[in-house]
Order: sequence, then structure tokens, then C-alpha cells
Amino acid sequence: MKLSIIGTGYVGLTTGTCFAEVGHEVTCVDNNEEKVRTLLDGKIPIYEPGLAELVKKNVAAGRLKFTTSTPEGVQDGEVIFIAVPTPPQPDGSVDLSYIEKVAREIAEALTPDLGYRVIVDKSTVPVKTGHKVAETVRRYAEPGVDFGVVSNPEFLREGCAVQDLLEPDRIVFGANDERAVTLMNRIYEPFVAPVLVTDMESAELIKHAANSFLALKISYINAVARICEQSGADIEKVAEGIGMDHRIGRSFLNAGLGYGGSCFPKDIKAFIAISESLGYPFELLKQVEEVNETQRELFLGKIRDKLWVLQDKKIALWGLTFKQNTDDVRESVAMKLAGQMLEEGAEVVAWDPQGIGTARKFGNLSGKITYADDMYSCLDGAEALVIGTEWPEFANADLAEVAKRLRTPLVFDGRNLLDPHTASAKGLEYYSVGRPAVGVTDSAAAAV
Ligand code: UDX
Ligand code: UDX
Repeated sequence: MKLSIIGTGYVGLTTGTCFAEVGHEVTCVDNNEEKVRTLLDGKIPIYEPGLAELVKKNVAAGRLKFTTSTPEGVQDGEVIFIAVPTPPQPDGSVDLSYIEKVAREIAEALTPDLGYRVIVDKSTVPVKTGHKVAETVRRYAEPGVDFGVVSNPEFLREGCAVQDLLEPDRIVFGANDERAVTLMNRIYEPFVAPVLVTDMESAELIKHAANSFLALKISYINAVARICEQSGADIEKVAEGIGMDHRIGRSFLNAGLGYGGSCFPKDIKAFIAISESLGYPFELLKQVEEVNETQRELFLGKIRDKLWVLQDKKIALWGLTFKQNTDDVRESVAMKLAGQMLEEGAEVVAWDPQGIGTARKFGNLSGKITYADDMYSCLDGAEALVIGTEWPEFANADLAEVAKRLRTPLVFDGRNLLDPHTASAKGLEYYSVGRPAVGVTDSAAAAV
């Protein structure tokens, strides 16, 4: 089928490429000329494992092309996906101005001779946005234009977006029009996954409710981690024990510094704002946010307890991205932690396998933070190592080398990546989240 995607960011580029990979002809549109130029030059503007190869392969096969022209996208695509940003506003509600603008652009490019077109909302939006999109297109399009609107939320995780798209757990779309449902079913025919077709409002709600539930799992385990710290229990064992119940499941029960990224923080805020506007103050989700925010503060407290003052102390930070396997530093907890340590006067030297370039470009720490040349030189002469992101490289680090390079062998692991007993055996004094500290040199701190 012929498809178009308006907005070629993380979501649009990966979605468009995977559609091409299963045989559709895809036009990706973006209003950022530099981004489109990069893509036309055969380079991809983001780091996402496996994506560059797929883009190259499908461009060469003639199934994937890039343009800055929305009219070209509308002309090409029988089904037009919208994947433009939906950023949060200061009050937490969603800024829908990009969606509205793109709906108008699509409307202005639609003509009756194009026949029936489907406009699909892929961006994460508040419930009822689809109706607004339909109303807007109807208002700005010339009479006689025939179209349907669909909500088709994405569930891709950065770092494994290609796999999430090609082998999804489920495909969800919502439409109030049978012709649109038929076309959507054809698009997803090549994918082996259960398909749930709903009304538009339910599909819109599924995305916010799913992300909020995952965030809730993370805050739940982080709250339990606090009880573990006070009682001497081990959160890793507790998570394993409760996760073995199939009704609960082990995934998203990793205690640590809390969730970050371009989705969870914004989606939880948005869901709270939407619920409020619909008459239900979602207190449970406000608690999820509260636990997440204070989790970082509690962790910082452990560092302060041990180092006493941070002023003028060199601290090595492993991890800048909001999670592993991405170069994305948006709403990264590791970056926020770095910011707070710098504010307290520490000298932060950071290393990340993919995030240094993006942190330099988009972070707000330039001029204050120092970036190391490699993972181990980052540690030289530092008073402590802080682990902020769950990169596998860190979990597999040579701990003897870590102990050797640090000035004092202190490790604060915000992602519970290391085995405490191995760390202690290698001479490290090791603090993590929800597990007893090991290798502690003074008895007062051992209780932490
Ligand atoms: C974004 C939203 O943040 C998310 O809620 C939604 O689910 C999908 O789109 P992401 O793909 O990560 O997520 O955003 P980003 O990488 O910023 O990409 C958006 C792209 O849209 C950018 O390339 C931007 O240049 C483009 N864009 C923006 C347009 O093409 N037209 C516009 O009017 C605005
Ligand atoms: C998320 C959803 O998983 C995805 O379905 C949706 O489409 C977009 O938002 P993403 O933001 O890419 O994906 O990353 P995810 O793997 O969900 O991690 C989000 C954050 O939660 C990261 O900061 C991660 O470190 C944190 N996290 C995750 C935990 O702290 N503990 C966990 O157990 C899992």
C-alpha cells in the first residue's frame, strides 16, 4: 500500500521504515529541512539499533523516500500518519498545536479527485483529539473531500524500536468508520500480532493508560525499595519473587533512579491533566510522579551522606541517556542528577556509550560538566563512581579496574547493575537502591 508519515522523528522514521520493510511504499515528510537533507544523504539523524541498515535497504529498494512537502505526502499516501510532537505545556496538559497545524496542512492538500484518504493519529494525544482532527480537516478542506480519521497508538521503546515495530505485542487502532478499518487491517496484514480494533476514544486512552501503568509499576517497586532499605530486605529478590506471579510479571519492576525519557514523564502529566479536565483527579498517578521525583533526591542523599560535602569533589558519572541503547537524553534522570551534583559544586566527569554527543548538543550542562574520553579514564582520581543509566557495558565492567582507578573506591549504583558481593570482593564500597550497602568502611553508613 502507499503510505505517508508526517513527522520523521523517532516515531515517524522508525514506523515509516518498518512499514517499508514489510512491503509498503512509504513517503516520510518532515518540515525540518536539515533532517530531510541528512536522510536524503543516506544518514540517519538518530541512534536506534538496526534502523540505519533498514533505511538504506528500503531506500535502495524504492520503497522509502523523504521530502519536506506535506502536499507530496498527501498526494502519495492513501493512508497518512501524523507523528509530530505533542509536548507538555507548563500545566502538564498537551500542546496540540503541531497536530492542529498538520491537520490544516493535510486538509489544504486534499482534493476530491484523490478519493478516500485515511488520516491516522500516531502521536500520543489526549482522548478526543481524533474528533478535533476530523473537525479541523472538514473545516479547512474543500467540499467533496472524502476522508476518515483513525487513532493508532505506538508502543515502541527507544533502543528496540525496530523489533517493537516488526514484532509487536499487539496492534491497536480505533476508528468510527468501516472503510478506515478495512484499510488499516490491510496495512497491518504482514505483521504477526494480535490486532485490537476499538472506537477512536478507546484507542487514544489505551496509550496513556498503558504508559501510566508501566510508570506505576516502576514507582511501585521504587516505593517497595524504600521499605527494603529500612528493613534489610533485598529489592532484587522481592521483585523476582513477585514477578514470578504471571499476573504481575517481572518486567518494569527494576528499582533505581526512576523513569525518564520523552514519553513517561510527559504522558503521565498529560493523563493527570486529561483526567482532571474530565472530572476525575487521578490521585494515584500524582503519587506515581511524586515517588519518581523523590527517588532521585533519596539517592543523592546517600551520596551526600558518604561524601559529606560535594563541593570541589570529582565524581565520575557513568550514563547520560535516559536508558540503555539510545542516544536520547530527553528528561534523563542521569542528566538531572549530574545537574544537581554540579549545582552543589562537584566536578562531574561523565561517560556514556552513545549520549555524549546529544548531551553536548541538547543538554543544559555545557561549560559545567566534563566528558571523559572513555569509560575507565572517566574514573581517574574520582572520589566516587555514580551509575545513572542501565547500559550493559556498566553491568559488565571490570570492577578491579574501577577500584584501582578511583581515588576512594566508592560506587553509587542508581540502576542496581552490579552484584553487591562481587563489588565488595573487588574492594568497592557499594551502595545501590533497595539493597543493603556492602563493603562499608564505617558502621554508621552500613545501615543505609
Ligand atoms: C513525537 C511525540 O513527542 C510523541 O508524543 C508522538 O507519539 C510521536 O511524535 P518523537 O518522534 O520522539 O515523538 O518526536 P521527534 O523526534 O521530535 O519527531 C517529531 C518530528 O516531527 C521532528 O522531526 C519534527 O521536525 C517534525 N515536525 C514537527 C514536522 O514535520 N512538522 C511539524 O509541524 C512539527
Ligand atoms: C516507553 C514505553 O515503554 C513504550 O511502550 C512507549 O511507546 C514509549 O514510552 P521508552 O520511553 O522508550 O518507552 O522507554 P522504556 O523502556 O519504557 O523506559 C522508560 C524509563 O523507565 C527509562 O528511564 C528507564 O530507565 C525506566 N525504567 C524502565 C525503570 O526505571 N525501571 C524499569 O523496570 C523499566
